[in-house]
Amino acid sequence: MSKKYLVTSALPYANGSIHLGHLVEYIQTDILVRFLKHVGHDAHYMCADDTHGTPIELNASKQGIKPEELVAAIHEEHKKDFADFQIGFDYFYTTHSEENKEFAELVYNSLVEGGHTDTREIEQFYCEHDKRFLPDRFLRGTCPFCKTPEQYGDVCENCNRTYTANELKEPKCSLCGNPPVKKKTEHVFVRLGNFQEFLEGWVKEPGRLQDSTRKFVETWLKDGLRDWDITRDGPYFGFPIPGREDQYFYVWLDAPIGYVSTTAKYAKEKGLSFDEFWRSDDTEVIHVIGKDIIYFHTLFWPAMLKSAGLTLPSRVLVHGMLTVDGSKMSKSRGTFIKARTFLDHLDPQYLRFYYASKLSGTDEDLDLNFEDFVNRVNADFINKIVNLASRAIPFVHKNFGGTLGKLPTDEVAKTLIEDIKKHIPLVRENYEKYAFHHAVKEICAIADLANKYFQDAAPWALVKTDPDAALAVCTLATNCCRTVAALLKPVLPKYAGQIEEILNIEPMTWEDANAFDLEEQELKPFTRLAERIKMKVVNKVVEASKEDLKSKDDAKVEEKPREPIADEIEFDTFIKTDLRVAKIVEANLVEKAKKLIQLTLDVGDGDTRNVFAGIRKSFPDPSVLVGQQIVMVANLKPRKMKFGVSEGMVLATGPSDDQLVLVSAPAPAKPGDRVS
Ligand code: 2FM
Ligand code: ZN
Repeated sequence: MSKKYLVTSALPYANGSIHLGHLVEYIQTDILVRFLKHVGHDAHYMCADDTHGTPIELNASKQGIKPEELVAAIHEEHKKDFADFQIGFDYFYTTHSEENKEFAELVYNSLVEGGHTDTREIEQFYCEHDKRFLPDRFLRGTCPFCKTPEQYGDVCENCNRTYTANELKEPKCSLCGNPPVKKKTEHVFVRLGNFQEFLEGWVKEPGRLQDSTRKFVETWLKDGLRDWDITRDGPYFGFPIPGREDQYFYVWLDAPIGYVSTTAKYAKEKGLSFDEFWRSDDTEVIHVIGKDIIYFHTLFWPAMLKSAGLTLPSRVLVHGMLTVDGSKMSKSRGTFIKARTFLDHLDPQYLRFYYASKLSGTDEDLDLNFEDFVNRVNADFINKIVNLASRAIPFVHKNFGGTLGKLPTDEVAKTLIEDIKKHIPLVRENYEKYAFHHAVKEICAIADLANKYFQDAAPWALVKTDPDAALAVCTLATNCCRTVAALLKPVLPKYAGQIEEILNIEPMTWEDANAFDLEEQELKPFTRLAERIKMKVVNKVVEASKEDLKSKDDAKVEEKPREPIADEIEFDTFIKTDLRVAKIVEANLVEKAKKLIQLTLDVGDGDTRNVFAGIRKSFPDPSVLVGQQIVMVANLKPRKMKFGVSEGMVLATGPSDDQLVLVSAPAPAKPGDRVS
């Protein structure tokens, strides 16, 4: 019986390009939805760009554009990448939409009205220099456990332990490097504990979660659910929280709501009923996600849906992460491969086929091993599947004017059809179980049987003695091609389309796999289907990915090339430069001078100096400099400038004008001390 399905992939952040890691999920979901449609279900694939949050807001401001402009540009890029990988969303929208704002408010109001929210004053790190609160990812400091420096405010990448921002040692703002201060702010929290009982029941329902996922979630439930802070203070790119000054919904509140609002937009455009999707017990909502975002999708999200009276997901399907050649994707090794870089060199079908042949429906990580990738695509897709079509169909054109004959009725042919038909239900069963790797294996087994039949029957010899028999062999082999293509259609829609075109048939449904009834059919000319992959092309992708990184970094910071070391000087020459410790007592912007900051320096014994320093790009708010002890050239001849006399020079370094730091001389050094 046909059922209604609404299937989603996690919404990609509109803050960067789609890469091969993302594509594990989009290809997995796409295969699932195509399969559901193929077997006759009413399935709909919804996705959108996830557009809100601090990184997007900062990225846009760094580029000097509005966040709306940034996310619009990324949206176009994402749409194209997905289309080129044949990801068949029924709708790909954005979370920065009217619909999403409306649903975010609807969910929020339901939480408030249901008594599931609380407001509370909290103390957060705040950067006086950047004038913003610092979320965990914008704090850097030393891990309180293993003492590794440069760790985030919530988790140490070295020892993997989590902690609160308060526990981080020597916290610094990751944007400017200054130590933050603590500041009070009132936030709205969701009392997740109110949903404890409901969630305990929901996760237990059979089929809802994979066993491994359920175990995780049950541990969290056992530990007790903490209230969830859904507030972010401005500046922030997001939806304002109704009734609250300069406060916005945390991106993770409105991101999953994107599943709902995208459906609303889609339903409106297609004239479908929104309620049949999100206010109905008859629709199966399936979320496909990576294992890094289980918490959001199995606790926060069902609680929000429950509160708003919207359809609860019937399944959250979790996949593992992509590794490349056994390791995490790495930019320096060139294994952090963007979708576009892959497309520039290779046929996207290769990746679809390879991922399908490894997707097990579990949360185990999936490894893209380049050697295995090349071997498997060549051995299975090219040598088995493409080969069958490329031998049988051109033979019919060459010898029989491109028209099929009757199917053979001998025992060998009958046995072949019977054997193939035994595999077909297994293919379906494996698709249904999300075990796409086994589905592909069964399809390859069918192709093996058909290739063996063709090879054994040797129509190239038979045609000389019994052309009718040779044509019958080719007719059966061509029917086998149709079966294979019909079964593979969810994985390789383009390949299936090419076969439909060549066989001159209507778009195939699942039933076509079983039909074996294509006789006396006039075929269309044969076109090349797919080429073998060469390792050297894969190497090019890796090289190009290293290039990508280089050019991106170049664009981000105009780094100065390392200057050659200057000509040798005598010690006597060096010692003539009198370097002294100085304390900045005043720091002001110089009006009409884009590069300068005016500094008043305490150089010891009550003496002060006035210095103009070209460091404004790095310190747009110079007040952060006050109090710092730095190093200056104290005996530089005073220089008359347009704005006054500069009595010395401060020492600074950094990769670019907007990333300078002053050379510091912390205590016990004191103003006036000589630096040598
Ligand atoms: O982890 C991520 O990339 C998020 N952008 C996923 C959001 S999924 C959903 F909740 F919107
Ligand atoms: Zn800062």
